[in-house]
Amino acid sequence: MLEEVVHFLAPSRGKLFLDGTLGGGGHTRRLLEDGANVIGLDRDPDALQFARQRLAEFGDSFSAIHTDFRDYSDLLGTVGICGGLDGILLDLGVSSRQLENFDRGFSFQGDGPLDMRMNPEAELSAEVVVNEWAEDELIRIFREYGEERSARRIAGAIVKARQDHPITTTLQLADLVESVLPRRGRQHPATRIFQAIRIAVNDEFGALRVALEEAHRWLRPGGRLVVITFHSLEDRIVKQFMRSHCMEWIDRPELPEPIPNPECYFDAVVRKALSPSDEEVAENPRARSAKLRVVERRTADEKATK
Ligand SMILES: C[S@@+](CC[C@H](N)C(=O)[O-])C[C@H]1O[C@@H](n2cnc3c(N)ncnc32)[C@H](O)[C@@H]1O
Repeated sequence: MLEEVVHFLAPSRGKLFLDGTLGGGGHTRRLLEDGANVIGLDRDPDALQFARQRLAEFGDSFSAIHTDFRDYSDLLGTVGICGGLDGILLDLGVSSRQLENFDRGFSFQGDGPLDMRMNPEAELSAEVVVNEWAEDELIRIFREYGEERSARRIAGAIVKARQDHPITTTLQLADLVESVLPRRGRQHPATRIFQAIRIAVNDEFGALRVALEEAHRWLRPGGRLVVITFHSLEDRIVKQFMRSHCMEWIDRPELPEPIPNPECYFDAVVRKALSPSDEEVAENPRARSAKLRVVERRTADEKATK
């Protein structure tokens, strides 16, 4: 959703953006081409190296930093960003580059180690989750992060199989899930299980919640927060966050009358999430479930008035 991001962030000379999910640097490149400055973050050193090479021509306008975006507040504090940011972009999930490298273990389209760490220096890998986590924990993540109705059966099969020998590869796991849950329709039965394990390994929802909560501190008035999600669970977190911080008044049954929301930091820029165009989906089928939401930082003295 490149054009939409450029439209909502309106890059121009002198503006400063934070791209929390640099990946291949596609979005950042467009911001830089329009004269803006960008601080790009990624927790994957391979992505950073790739983006640094691709964006070297932009010199000092661009810096690439290896960190989890959950820590951007500390980072910006250290760097000493005084005037604030004109925009924050979070384009969540994994990149095509990560998915297509079977050695990273994100995909079962080919065989690879059960890894799934966006940051290969992190301790927790998919292999640890699958072979060491308690059955109840597996059930919980399959339900919560995979919305898998057969969570109990699949977790049971994993626990049984790992008693004989550890499950160490992506195809071993995908075949095991398929043996419990035969294929129906177009989606492979392991898709939700892989999604759940990846979210757990990278604590994706934890990182997202922290990053959202910090955004109002760093955006200058009029600065925008743009978030692209790839599945309904992530989108729900973003939607609820944005709704609760765009709400001017709190009106609850236990209150005698509505009160101004002290945490009304944003104005909604789009009322409903935007989806990619048919042309984009035709070009890149993985984009089909993408949703983009945007809010704008209010000025500090915009007070709710009845
Ligand atoms: C969908 S890709 C971004 C693609 C990018 N917008 C582009 O135009 O090429 C997501 C990237 O975000 C990174 N990422 C995901 N969660 C992260 C986090 N919590 N902190 C830092 N990077 C993260 C992934 O490693 C991946 O490289």
